[in-house]
Amino acid sequence: MRRAKITVVGAGNVGATCAHWAAAKELGDIVLLDIPEREGVAKGKALDLAQCGPIEEFDSRVTGTADYKDTADSDVVIVTAGLPRKPGMSRDDLIQTNVKIVRSVAEQVSKHSPEAVMIVVSNPLDAMVYTAWKSSGFPTHRILGQAGCLDVARFRAFLSMELGCSIEDIQALLLGGHGDDMVPLPRLTSVHGIPIDQLLPKETIDRCVQRAKVGGGEIVQLMGTSAYYAPASGTIQMTEAIIKDKKRILPCAAYCENEFGVAPGQKGKGYFVGVPCILGSKGMEKIVEFKMDAEERKFMDESISHVKDLVATVVKIFPELA
Ligand code: NAI
Ligand code: 2OP
Repeated sequence: MRRAKITVVGAGNVGATCAHWAAAKELGDIVLLDIPEREGVAKGKALDLAQCGPIEEFDSRVTGTADYKDTADSDVVIVTAGLPRKPGMSRDDLIQTNVKIVRSVAEQVSKHSPEAVMIVVSNPLDAMVYTAWKSSGFPTHRILGQAGCLDVARFRAFLSMELGCSIEDIQALLLGGHGDDMVPLPRLTSVHGIPIDQLLPKETIDRCVQRAKVGGGEIVQLMGTSAYYAPASGTIQMTEAIIKDKKRILPCAAYCENEFGVAPGQKGKGYFVGVPCILGSKGMEKIVEFKMDAEERKFMDESISHVKDLVATVVKIFPELA
């Protein structure tokens, strides 16, 4: 049986950590690619990771390269190429540089792995998934963005700290773009089936919601660069669901038109927004819709509007991506 092949583009903090989690979970063979000037970094990190195999007992082959030929026919391609933000920067400040990077990466991916599922991680996330879609020509079900898995994980982690209970028993969902206006949903958050508002006072829940929303910024302030352990972990959660055809329902940036009222009736003019999706071997297999209450709808509309503004900025600077 052929092993799955996973390419990670960008051998920096998020990329190398994705390779680490994917190898530890033995999801397949992993190719870590970076630009020619950083080929040594890609090769060195890959070799270092490969040498964990005998200790951690995985047989995944991990290789580094700067040549897309080595990535040929990947099943999943994870795109982490691009600048991370520094203190004082928002994710949106990265548009100019990262559109150019993600565009060139997506063109190469579509040439060398035309059947892959592409998971974009580079920021600003919602605009970069759009860029990858336009630049690759991939069908929308094979382009996804990672943000929701991370943002939900943050929300669950903060709730578990407050409750003093296992993280495993906390279920939560979150919608919208990967900005500070993302939409956590306390109404749909529970602890082993018990609604969260029966276990924590509103102020505590609100504090966790707020901390999840600015969770990325909190880490940038502490470290001087953006997070990578949990972002990579969220990306590999998606990768695992795809490689193993698990049909997991995970919050991902997925292409929406009518879904969640993102761009009703605007065929081919939709947006990538964080929504619950069934992930399997075909990529995004179904968007799972549900009824929101009035307040959730309002927050979702604000978040969608921010995603639309971001894409409009991309198209203004790079009209060929319209
Ligand atoms: P990093 O600076 O550690 O790594 C980025 C890597 O991309 C570098 O090794 C760089 O050489 C490489 N790169 C640049 N241009 C390239 C190209 N054309 N082809 C291949 N590789 C190229 O940055 P880090 O921390 O790994 O972050 C990567 C991206 O992920 C950033 O845009 C960051 O904002 C984003 N991010 C997104 C998250 C999310 O949840 N969606 C969470 C955390 C980071
Ligand atoms: C994060 O949320 C910066 O998007 C990155 O950590």
